Amino acid sequence: MRVGFLGTGEITAAMVRGLAGQGHQILVSPRNAAMAATLAAEVPELSIAPNEVVVAQSDTVFLCLLARVAPEVLPGLPFRAGQSVISVMVDAPLAKLQGWCAPATDIAMTIPLPPIAKGGCPLPVYPPSLALDHLFGDRNLVIPLTSEAALAAHMGASALCATQLDQIMTTANWLAGFTGNPDAAEAYVAAMIRAYLPDRPRGGELPEALRMLSTEGGFNATLRAAMAPSRDELRRALDGFRKRLGLPGAEEKPE
Ligand SMILES: NC(=O)c1ccc[n+]([C@@H]2O[C@H](COP(=O)([O-])OP(=O)(O)OC[C@H]3O[C@@H](n4cnc5c(N)ncnc54)[C@H](OP(=O)(O)O)[C@@H]3O)[C@@H](O)[C@H]2O)c1
Repeated sequence: MRVGFLGTGEITAAMVRGLAGQGHQILVSPRNAAMAATLAAEVPELSIAPNEVVVAQSDTVFLCLLARVAPEVLPGLPFRAGQSVISVMVDAPLAKLQGWCAPATDIAMTIPLPPIAKGGCPLPVYPPSLALDHLFGDRNLVIPLTSEAALAAHMGASALCATQLDQIMTTANWLAGFTGNPDAAEAYVAAMIRAYLPDRPRGGELPEALRMLSTEGGFNATLRAAMAPSRDELRRALDGFRKRLGLPGAEEKPE
C-alpha cells in the first residue's frame, strides 16, 4: 500500500517505525525537516515529498498535523474519492475533516500512542477503517467504535498513562531506596505490572486479577485501601474532561 503522512512530527515518526519493513511505500511531508531526514535515513522505503504529492500518490493519508493548522493546510490538497484518510488530530471533529478533505469520504479518526512504533498499541477508531486494520491491525489492537463521542471518551481515558507511569516510578524509587539499584527497581515494577495486563484483553480478566489480590490484611489489600480516596479523585478528574471532549454532563446519558 502507498501510505502518506502530512506533518512529520513525533506521532508520525512512531507510526512510520511501526510500519517499516512491511512492504509499504511511505511518503512523508518535509516538515519537520530534521525528523523527515532522520526517518528517510532509517527507513529505506520512505521518501520525502511536498504535501500535494503526498496526497496525490497515497492510497491512505494520515493527517498528523496540529489541528489548529489543518484548516490552512488541508483544503486545496488533491484528495480524491476512493482514497482513505485517517486523522490522528485531537480537536478536529469529523464534520470539519469531511469538509477539508472532500471529495474523499472514507475518513476515520484514531488515537495512536508513541508505543505504536513497537506494536501492541490500542487504536480506537471511528468510523471503522479497513485501511487502519490492514496497516496496523496485525501488530496492534484496533478497536472499532460506533460514535464520535465514544472516541472522545477514549481520548479522555488515554490520559491515564501518565498517572500510571507516575505511580510505577514512585514505587520503583521507593524500592530503589532499599536496593540501591534504580534500573533494576524500575524493571521489576514495570515487569510486575505488565504481567497482569493481557496482550489481547477479552474483558473480565482485570476484575479476576484484582479479586486474587484481595486477601484481607495482605500488602495489596492494605495499599489499595489506603489509596481508595484517589479512586474518586480519578473519576472527578476524568469527569472534568467532559466539556473539553464534548461529552454529556455527569447527569446526562450519552445518545
Ligand atoms: N504525540 C502524540 O503522542 C500524539 C498522540 C495522538 C495524537 N496526536 C496528534 O497528532 C498530531 C501531531 O502531533 P505530534 O505530537 O506529532 O506534533 P508535532 O511533533 O508538533 O508534529 C506536527 C508536525 O506538523 C508539521 N507541520 C506544520 N505545518 C505544516 C504544513 N503546512 N505542512 C506539513 N506539515 C506541517 C510540523 O512541522 P514543523 O515542526 O516544521 O512546524 C510538525 O512536524 C496532533 O494533532 C496531536 O494531537 C499526537
